[in-house]
Amino acid sequence: MKRSQDITDAVGQTFSIRVNGETVPAIAGESVLSTLLASNIRALSKNDYGRLASAYCGMGVCHCCTLEINGRHKQRACQVAVQPDMAVRTEANIVVESQALQNQALQNKEVENTDLDSNTVEQGEPHV
Ligand code: FES
Repeated sequence: MKRSQDITDAVGQTFSIRVNGETVPAIAGESVLSTLLASNIRALSKNDYGRLASAYCGMGVCHCCTLEINGRHKQRACQVAVQPDMAVRTEANIVVESQALQNQALQNKEVENTDLDSNTVEQGEPHV
């Protein structure tokens, strides 16, 4: 991925980070938010109701830029300095993801119960 939103040339040490598995160029000293915005990544966080948001204040107040950084959830992208080989996941929300896992487990259990019911019918008395 390229930095397409910079208004000046990059100055300083450059390295890369991984964002949702893709390599993204970063500059030492900038925030994760700056790195993401420079590469035109704007959909950052997903709230507990599944709604997407992007940065609003840029100074740690609004919590609209929360994402997963190095496996830690709900980190504010505007308050974390970018580091080499950092792993960032946007649109990540542990609450939404755990609810999805719970729903999946419930569906699997329902399928199991349905299978058990159908086995019971097959092994029971013949249908008239
Ligand atoms: S943009 Fe508001 S807390 Fe990061």
